[in-house]
Amino acid sequence: MNIGIIGAGVMGEVITSSLLKKNVVAASQIMIADALPEKPAALAKTYGIRHAADNREVTAFADIVIFSVKPQNSRAMMEPLSGAFHEGQVIVSIMAGVSLGTIERLTGHKELVRAMPNIPAKIGEGMTVWIASPSVPDCSKMIVKMIFQAFGLETEVTNEDLIDAATAISGSGPAYIFYVAENLMKSALELGFDNREAHRLVQQTFRGAMDLWHHTGEEPETLRRSVTSKGGTTAAALKTFGERKTPESFSAAIHAAYVRAGQLREIADGKPDPAADLEKQS
Ligand SMILES: NC(=O)c1ccc[n+]([C@@H]2O[C@H](COP(=O)([O-])OP(=O)(O)OC[C@H]3O[C@@H](n4cnc5c(N)ncnc54)[C@H](OP(=O)(O)O)[C@@H]3O)[C@@H](O)[C@H]2O)c1
Repeated sequence: MNIGIIGAGVMGEVITSSLLKKNVVAASQIMIADALPEKPAALAKTYGIRHAADNREVTAFADIVIFSVKPQNSRAMMEPLSGAFHEGQVIVSIMAGVSLGTIERLTGHKELVRAMPNIPAKIGEGMTVWIASPSVPDCSKMIVKMIFQAFGLETEVTNEDLIDAATAISGSGPAYIFYVAENLMKSALELGFDNREAHRLVQQTFRGAMDLWHHTGEEPETLRRSVTSKGGTTAAALKTFGERKTPESFSAAIHAAYVRAGQLREIADGKPDPAADLEKQS
């Protein structure tokens, strides 16, 4: 089985290293391409994989072709590949927002998987949510599942809307966690810890809390209540979060990510990017 990757950016490298680390395939069974030849050549040097002169070379080589370019570049990448796929090949897209319908229309291929991994895949701790089109045979689905298992945990869904939902929750999720960590770090520094100590405090607090959640299997709300005594310090902090409408901010932010996934689908369908218009106005 040969695997092709189109897009040698952050995720292209994460996919490459995960597949090799978990021995899913040998380095000689991976081929990567990018808009510019330097990036695939550098990855080929680091990992011993093959690099292609163009995207068509990847489609000719691979049984599974992974699309890993930004959604904004998806149309320009897919249009020239129309008709380049044959029966038995599977396209796996990890591009946020870009629908199965759009991929089928632009490539002319029906055996499609759409997936949303996340960045902890880099250390085998990712979460990938995926959906396969009805044309993908079970044997191909097993292979695709094995690829996602190299990234960490995976879950298959049958409703494509859940891929956009997963994009807003687990796809973008690590950035929300880092955002909370960043703000805890800032407070730790303001309260007198040096940078090294602040790192230790915040990192171990995250790790300990996540492990406790995993270990007990309790609802986060139950765990939160169990550490919040009436009139105590945690209660004072949580009261302030409530007064400043933090839960509403979370909900609005995640909704914004979900809406953006819908906009990315429209961009891949040829509509202008509303975010680009806003950037021009400001
Ligand atoms: N990063 C994440 O945490 C994450 C998580 C889940 C899913 N994703 C999805 O993964 C995809 C890739 O994200 P990324 O962070 O890896 O992006 P990235 O670092 O920008 O990598 C994309 C690569 O694709 C190249 N490219 C652009 N147009 C191309 C074309 N026509 N043919 C071949 N290569 C082309 C880009 O080159 P240039 O830089 O020269 O344009 C870039 O090297 C995105 O669709 C994103 O939605 C990302």
